[in-house]
Amino acid sequence: MCGIVGGVSKKNIVPVLLDGLNRLEYRGYDSAGIIVLSEDKKFDLIRSVGKVEVLENKLKARKNKIKGNIGIAHTRWATHGEPASHNAHPHVSKNSVSVVHNGIIENYLDLKENQLDQGYKFLSETDTEVIAHEIDLSMRSNNNLISSVQNAVKSLKGSYGLGVISSKYPDQIIATRKGSPLLIGISKNGNYIASDQIALLSLTKKFIFLEEGDIAIVLIDKVTIYDSNGNEVVRPIKSSKLKAGQVDIGSYKHFMQKEIFEQPQAIRDTLESRISFNSVNISAFGDQAKKKFKDIFRVQIIACGTSYNAGLVAKYWIEDIAKIPCNIEVASEYRYRRPILLDKTLFLTISQSGETADTLEALKTAIKINKNILTLSITNTAESSITRLSELNFLTNAGPEIGVASTKAFTTQLVALALLTIALGKSKGNINETQEKDIVNGLKRLPGLITETLQQAKQIKRLAFRFKNKNSALFLGRGTMHAIALEGALKLKEISYIHAEAYAAGELKHGPIALIDENIPVVAIAPNDELLEKLKSNIQEVKSRGSYMIVFEDFGSKVESMPTMEIVPITSNLGRITAPIIFTIPLQLLSYFVAIEKGTNVDKPRNLAKSVTVE
Ligand code: AGP
Repeated sequence: MCGIVGGVSKKNIVPVLLDGLNRLEYRGYDSAGIIVLSEDKKFDLIRSVGKVEVLENKLKARKNKIKGNIGIAHTRWATHGEPASHNAHPHVSKNSVSVVHNGIIENYLDLKENQLDQGYKFLSETDTEVIAHEIDLSMRSNNNLISSVQNAVKSLKGSYGLGVISSKYPDQIIATRKGSPLLIGISKNGNYIASDQIALLSLTKKFIFLEEGDIAIVLIDKVTIYDSNGNEVVRPIKSSKLKAGQVDIGSYKHFMQKEIFEQPQAIRDTLESRISFNSVNISAFGDQAKKKFKDIFRVQIIACGTSYNAGLVAKYWIEDIAKIPCNIEVASEYRYRRPILLDKTLFLTISQSGETADTLEALKTAIKINKNILTLSITNTAESSITRLSELNFLTNAGPEIGVASTKAFTTQLVALALLTIALGKSKGNINETQEKDIVNGLKRLPGLITETLQQAKQIKRLAFRFKNKNSALFLGRGTMHAIALEGALKLKEISYIHAEAYAAGELKHGPIALIDENIPVVAIAPNDELLEKLKSNIQEVKSRGSYMIVFEDFGSKVESMPTMEIVPITSNLGRITAPIIFTIPLQLLSYFVAIEKGTNVDKPRNLAKSVTVE
């Protein structure tokens, strides 16, 4: 949520800031802004409402070009204060200090009161402006910028990733973080800061990931870091495996479309070196995994949104196949209750970004409650906060996911969870070699099966107009397909703004069936499994109430065709593990094409941001 980029460079920093903002736009797109220190050491600020493109046009239209070797920039997802130019970052205090901020300052009203008494004027309704004033206030009694920032952040309650520049210290950026991600990019031509490495990939592959509470002085040729106790520390410089091209849209119209079609490769990359022949390498979850999984008696899964839906599928697998009790809960609830966490629990967090504030806080809560739990994260982002806090880690290797609606992250999470199911089952002696071999072979078939399923895109596109003028839709499934129905409904609401609900098909008659009439299209997922006959009865119940239906089925399911019903055979002979992954694909395509029909912004749907790093 909110993207920060900044740098001190031998060259004009403005193109770097603009490129970085464009790449970070998935983090927020309400407004954007840039500030640089010009040659005469004065601030030059430009901000605008809307997408980065609007800011770019404003920059082009300016007669006196904005230029400088040091600057910071921001793309905003509004929390405090509506999306408006005066609320966009960077914020400036007394022409002396400027800040960009990602996070939320909870005590900003208290700080504001004091600052008003001290004569500060407020030009925005944001919580961020108090940070700029607090630093300026501290500079009155401090003779360097870093100690002023160190002092100022002591009075902040909440979360922050901060980039700070000052006209009095024109050679440096101060970068600090608590609860929000921030990293430093190192290069020959200068040093940079950003919320995400993808902002800087065209400049460098070398990154320092700031730890919680770290503060850094970033100079053109040097970076000095202090920890939260003020001690100078050396943080390792890590080489990123990401390539700049991975974050380009290529020949696709939308990132979501690209990411849907990248799934066969993403799954290959997730499986790479995690399986050998017919077996799963338990060490893929960490060197200690083999030893530690033996002692596990229960699994607690925590996640949000799509990652939660992946966890729901895994609950079925872990209990059914690995024979280990498994609970799942959304992070935003878990973190605020007083859960009971017994020893020998595997506490599993799932998060594409590895930065989701609720998931991260739930993990911290769990560690506080019981230090004896084993923590494991499944993320798509190396060096993320969740990854670093977890004892064991698994990276999905899906490559950067830019579209706000999660697609390849979901299917690769499912692959990771399938591998985990086998790893746990094997460690506990609950899975035999034949079962393992069958599942591994199923996983190996996935890239090919997905490629085949994607070939049905045209047929699915044809169905999208049915949703165009509808206000509501219903998704039905049983077993793991209930979780897939939830994911299908989430995709549809996110990008086409159609109200969509998912129900376990057997639950229909307990209430939701009252909703059904010809205005609510119903999507049912009908694999050829042990629940098929039950689902067929549910389909009849719906159909007899007059709604238009789409049934995605297995060739062998043979759902009886009826008027105003489209039956779309997807594939055949799927197993318990492969079926939910394959049936996800038509639902992704359907929501994508409905969004196209409706003309919504597929990659940047209203009100959303990719990485939810605030509460
Ligand atoms: C998915 O399409 C959503 N954009 C959203 O629900 C997302 O899955 C959720 O915010 C969790 O994000 P994470 O996986 O990065 O933790």
